[in-house]
Amino acid sequence: MRMDAPKELKETVLPQTVVAPLTRAAIFLVVCIRQDADAVARLRSFCADLSGLIRAVEFRDIEAGLTCIIGFGSEAWDKLFGSPRPAELHPFQEIRSGGRHAVSTPGDILFHIRAKRMDFCFELAIQIMDSIGDVVSIADEVHGFRYFDDRDVIGFVDGTENPRGDDAREAAIIGDEDPAFAGGSYVIVQKYLHNMKAWNALPIEAQERIIGRRKLSDIELSDAEKPISAHNALTVIEENGKQVDILRDNMPFGRPGHGEFGTYFIGYCRTPRITELMLQNMFVGRPPGNYDRLLDFSRPVTGTLFFVPSATFLDSINPNEGPETDTGRSADEPDTTEISAAPSSEPSSVPSADDTSLRIGSLKGEKDE
Ligand code: HEM
Repeated sequence: MRMDAPKELKETVLPQTVVAPLTRAAIFLVVCIRQDADAVARLRSFCADLSGLIRAVEFRDIEAGLTCIIGFGSEAWDKLFGSPRPAELHPFQEIRSGGRHAVSTPGDILFHIRAKRMDFCFELAIQIMDSIGDVVSIADEVHGFRYFDDRDVIGFVDGTENPRGDDAREAAIIGDEDPAFAGGSYVIVQKYLHNMKAWNALPIEAQERIIGRRKLSDIELSDAEKPISAHNALTVIEENGKQVDILRDNMPFGRPGHGEFGTYFIGYCRTPRITELMLQNMFVGRPPGNYDRLLDFSRPVTGTLFFVPSATFLDSINPNEGPETDTGRSADEPDTTEISAAPSSEPSSVPSADDTSLRIGSLKGEKDE
């Protein structure tokens, strides 16, 4: 059973706007820190001022609901903040299985900008780049939009089973399992491209068996109808008899003129372990070989893991101080771990919710088995 955040933490630590309503527009900006001598000082100062910058743009029309989340990759954390470091922060571990490949790609800082209107996202992205454009390089920039009925570009309603309210907070926000980082969250992003020609050539019933829901009505297939390879079967994780959720805010994107059609996957969780298990199930299969057929039509071209500190942490950064250098936890590992041999994803191998270890070792172990 997970422990909830202690009362005093709940009262004093304010998370970033991870748990926020779905919006019509979003910009996903991933940047890498340049090796400039003053980059770290500049970025620390920027982080301390970010909430003010967001408020300035947000207040131009409060109804637009502008929010922005900042997250940091494993190496970037060490550069910017040193120790202590979040207990489970590590580079995204790539997964290879069959012809499927969950790539791990560079990224030091993620900005997840959301608003009801794209002009607000756009304006904040301009302001961010005005502030830090000369000390970062762009790894990826995606402008997402909400499609009909909250559908992704493959035509299915996306987000239905997302946890809401208290359940969303319980799923996404760190509690007393890592007290120094309570109020934080982990986020994994992957930019998927779809082969729409092949997808559209499938009969609707076949598409529905891949997703596990009806396309038009969004009703879940019955257990009798739903294959064990369905997307919404493989992404259900149970621990101690209880379903453990992540909080998603996938967005369609694309350039029809270039034949580009995509889904930007973004999943927040209080531990990266759960999202990683879902990815294992999708790419390797549960049991191995029973993989997610969505991947026959979709391939990720990015994959990065970030830690999202609390808003309280960001506001308390002292720009005049450098990162702490005493060696606390150091968890950086090469980000090329190959998980091609199918590790067991049976419930017995699912780590307990109380286990906050990085499990990088165990992923490697599985590979070597
Ligand atoms: C090509 C990219 C993806 C597309 C188009 C996609 C689409 C969908 C759709 C249409 C649903 C059903 C409606 C809903 O409950 O939201 C769904 C459910 C879900 N997806 Fe994805 N998804 C993608 C990638 C992922 C990834 C990478 C993960 C996790 C690592 C994930 C985790 C989930 C979860 C947890 C559910 C809810 C399952 C349930 O409780 O019923 N998805 N997705």
